[in-house]
Amino acid sequence: MVEKDFLSSGFLNIPVPKDIDLIPAIQALKKEKKAIILAHYYQESVIQDIADFVGDSLALAQWAAKTDAEVIVLCGVDFMGETAKILSPGKRVFVPDLNAGCSLADSCPADEFEEFIKQYPGHVVISYVNTTAAVKVLTDVVVTSTNARQIVESFPPETKIIFGPDENLGNYINSLTGRNMVLWKGACHVHERFSLEKIVELKKEYSGALVLAHPECKSVILKIADFVGSTSALLNYATASKNKTFIVATESGILHEMKEKNPDKTFIPAPPNDSTCACNECNFMKLNTLDKLYNCLKYEIPEIFISDEVQAKAIKPIRRMLEISEQLGL
Ligand code: 13P
Ligand code: SF4
Repeated sequence: MVEKDFLSSGFLNIPVPKDIDLIPAIQALKKEKKAIILAHYYQESVIQDIADFVGDSLALAQWAAKTDAEVIVLCGVDFMGETAKILSPGKRVFVPDLNAGCSLADSCPADEFEEFIKQYPGHVVISYVNTTAAVKVLTDVVVTSTNARQIVESFPPETKIIFGPDENLGNYINSLTGRNMVLWKGACHVHERFSLEKIVELKKEYSGALVLAHPECKSVILKIADFVGSTSALLNYATASKNKTFIVATESGILHEMKEKNPDKTFIPAPPNDSTCACNECNFMKLNTLDKLYNCLKYEIPEIFISDEVQAKAIKPIRRMLEISEQLGL
């Protein structure tokens, strides 16, 4: 019964009893199952609040690699769960809703990427962590938006590099480093749709506001940004800045932590160009809910599985990223 419901939906589709107080119930289950809850900054605020650790893609991978917990519930998207499982094959890893995919990872099918790589013999393959395990198998070193620049620069300037799948991030790193990496033309549907016009209007309305942008955004947005960085870099920049108002061009979930850390500052989500909505949400990230988190912990489903063969190959480029990041103090 449970199995059937799960298979038809990607998550355990049974109602949570109405009389359950979800927050203490999740805390109790977490203790009982010796689990740790890791959440990305793009998760709903209630999920960030109940998590043991909230971070960006790099920090989540670092936590997954070092935790002693027997069970990891990764409140993020599927590639984050896969990365955690690859790093901790002996642990059980769950994502509350397995439909939580990623348009950027989907923009790089492994078979097509393999053909692409064959066209460029002698190139080092650097892949963003937002990829499937099958793409990581084809990769020499994984990067996240926090360490991409430094990892690219850790290779001698003459190194021929293929960078995938995010073309905007690749172009941005090429512009910073003067490299000429061959780029796979992938993109994140959330970061691609910020509206330049609406950001310019907001800048007029909130005079003196600084624009913070994630490097997955298009170059027109990055060009007008006052600061470009990963989610954690944007958070740190806003926290350290003396400025009081910020227009934030990344998924709006990060505003929760920005406001928590900076109650005296104003954060305005940059709007997308295709709707009247004021903020830009990742529909995949928002699939995880407290109800699904509760069911996930209680029934231990849905679980991430990776074959031994894929795990053994995919861990190498992820470990390499973690080692370089440690050497660089990231
Ligand atoms: P970071 O967590 O590395 O900032 O990446 C953002 C993102 O798009 C995750 O899906
Ligand atoms: Fe993927 Fe973009 Fe959502 Fe991040 S925000 S999980 S890159 S679709």
